[in-house]
Amino acid sequence: MADVTVQVLNNGPLLVKGTCAVTDHEGNTVADSDSVVALCRCGMSSSKPMCDGTHNTGFDGTLNPPS
Ligand code: FES
Repeated sequence: MADVTVQVLNNGPLLVKGTCAVTDHEGNTVADSDSVVALCRCGMSSSKPMCDGTHNTGFDGTLNPPS
């Protein structure tokens, strides 16, 4: 059993559950969690990579990425 799970929410963020650290592109820790972290999946958050709830303005997470 994995210590960390990632749950894709319907029309919402990725919930990372478990003990984890989120780092930026330079390796700096931007979040430390031993419970749940919500990562933006819609691209509209003003505090990326974290979800700030902006997805509630109409993000449709059911669309497939362009091929
Ligand atoms: S998924 Fe919540 S702001 Fe992008």
